Amino acid sequence: MSLISFIVFLIIISASTLLLRRRKSSLKQLPPGPPGWPIFGNMFELGSMPHRTLTDLRDKYGEVIWLKFGAINTMVVLSAKAASDFFKNHDLSFAERTVTEIMRAYDYDKSSLALASYGSFWRVLRRLVTVDMIVHKRINETASIRRKCVNDMLLWIEKEALQGNGDGRRCIHVARFVFLSTFNLLGNLMLSRDLLDPDSKDGAEFFTSMMGLMEWGGHPNISDFFPFLRWLDPQGLKRKMKRDLGKALKIASKFVKERVEENKEGDRERKDFLDVLLDFEGNGKDEPAKLSEQQLNIFILEIFLAGSETTSSSIEWALTELLCNLDSLNRAKAELAEVVGPNGMFEESDIENLPYLQAVIKETLRLHPPIPFLVPRRAMEDTNFNGYHIPKNTQVLINAWAIGRDPEVWSDPLSFKPERFLGSKVDYKGQNYELIPFGAGRRMCAGVPLAHRMLNLILGSLLHEFDWELDGNVCKETMDMKDRLGITMRKDEPLFALPKR
Ligand code: HEM
Repeated sequence: MSLISFIVFLIIISASTLLLRRRKSSLKQLPPGPPGWPIFGNMFELGSMPHRTLTDLRDKYGEVIWLKFGAINTMVVLSAKAASDFFKNHDLSFAERTVTEIMRAYDYDKSSLALASYGSFWRVLRRLVTVDMIVHKRINETASIRRKCVNDMLLWIEKEALQGNGDGRRCIHVARFVFLSTFNLLGNLMLSRDLLDPDSKDGAEFFTSMMGLMEWGGHPNISDFFPFLRWLDPQGLKRKMKRDLGKALKIASKFVKERVEENKEGDRERKDFLDVLLDFEGNGKDEPAKLSEQQLNIFILEIFLAGSETTSSSIEWALTELLCNLDSLNRAKAELAEVVGPNGMFEESDIENLPYLQAVIKETLRLHPPIPFLVPRRAMEDTNFNGYHIPKNTQVLINAWAIGRDPEVWSDPLSFKPERFLGSKVDYKGQNYELIPFGAGRRMCAGVPLAHRMLNLILGSLLHEFDWELDGNVCKETMDMKDRLGITMRKDEPLFALPKR
C-alpha cells in the first residue's frame, strides 16, 4: 500500500469512528427539557395546570421533552407528529404502566386491567371487556337500560329545576346529575343494580367510598417522587385510600356473593358484566383457570373509576362550549328535531344519523380530553425514540390536551368548531394521532364503543329534552373556562345552567 493510500485509509477509518461515536452519543442523549432543581427536579415548575405549562414548553424545547419529578424520569410527548411515531413504531416498548403508590393499597394494581403489567393477565381482562362485554351485540341488547337511566336523569333535572321561584325554574349543577346518571348506568350494566336507589344502604355506601377513591386518586403524592418516604405516607393519602378502598371492596364482594347464590337458584334471563366475569374459564396455564375473588371485586370498581367521571366531565364541557357558541347549539338542536322528531324520544340507534352531534362530542374531546396525559405509560426497555435515548422505566406522559391544540395539524386550534369534523374521517378510535382522548395502541381505552354511545345519548337527550340557558350572571365573555386536574380534568367552576321546556 502506497503512503498516500495508507493516509486516505487512516482518514476514512478516523472519520467513520468519529461518526460512529457521534451517532452513539446521540443515541444516548436524553430529550431536552428545563434544568430543574437538584433532588426535586422539575416538581415545582408545573403549577396546578401541568397540561398547560408543558404545552408552553414546546416552543422552547420541542415536541418531546424530559423532566424529573424527584426520582421519576419522565418523557412528555407534545405533538401529533411525535405521538404518531410513538404509537406506530414504539407502542410495545412503552406498553407498561407507571403505578402510583396509592394504587398499591390492597394490591389494587395487581388485579387492575388499567395498571396490569403487559402480559397474559392483562390480555385476559382486556379480552373480557372488548370481546365479551362491550361488543356490538351485547351493547345493543343493553340499550334499553341506558335509556332508562338517562330518562331518570331527565326527571331528576326537571324536578330540581322546578324547585326554583320566579318563573318557576332554577339553574342546575349539570355535572352532578350526569355523574349520578353514568354511575347508575354503569351499576346496571355491571351488576344489574340500581346503586342510587334511596332504599339501598349498600348502594349509598358504595357510592360514597367510590367518591373517596376518585378524590385520593387525583392528588399528587410526594411518596411517588421520593420512594424512601413511602413508609411515612406524609400526606396520609395511602391511609385514606386504604380506608375507602377497603369499604368499596367489601361491598363489591357482598354483591358478588349475592349473585353467586342467585345463580345457584337458576339461570337468570339477562347476563350482565358480572356474569361474564363469573363465567370466565381460562386455560389454567398462562391464564388463571377462574378469576379470584379479589380480581372480580377490583374489576367491578375499575369500571366505575374508568367510566363515570370521564363521561360526566365531557358532558359538562360539551354543554359549556355549546352555551358559549349558540350557533353550534342551535344547529345540534335542529339536527335532533329533524332526525328524532320534535316529540320523539332520542334512541341510541339515532346516533349514526346525527353527524353534527357526533362532531360536537369530538370537538369537545379535542379541546377538553378528560385524561389529558392519558394513563401514564412506562418504558419496558431502553428505547431509542425520536433520536433520543429513553432509559428503561422512564414514565411517559402523552399530552393529549397539547396534541388536540397542535397548530401543525389543527387550523384555528383554540376555537370550538364542530364543523371541522363534518365530512372528515378523523375520529377518536385510535387511528388519528391528532385526536387521542382515548389514547391509542395496545393500551388504548377498552371502553370506547360504550363511551361513544353514552356520550352521544346523554348529550343528545339533554339537548333534545330541554332548551338550555346560562345562569343570568354569566355570558360567553365572562364564562370561566379554566380547568382543574383531579382524577379527570374537570371544569374548575362547575357549570350551572337553566333547563327550560
Ligand atoms: C369519556 C369517556 C372515557 C374516556 C375519555 C376514556 C379515556 C381513557 C384513556 C385516555 C385511557 C388510557 C389510554 C392509553 O394509555 O393509551 C383509558 C384506558 C381505559 N379505559 Fe377509558 N375512557 C372513557 C370511558 C371508559 C369506559 C366507559 C370504560 C369501561 C367501561 C373504560 C375503560 C377503560 C379501561 C379498562 C382502560 C385501561 C386499558 C388498558 O390499560 O389496557 N373507559 N381510557
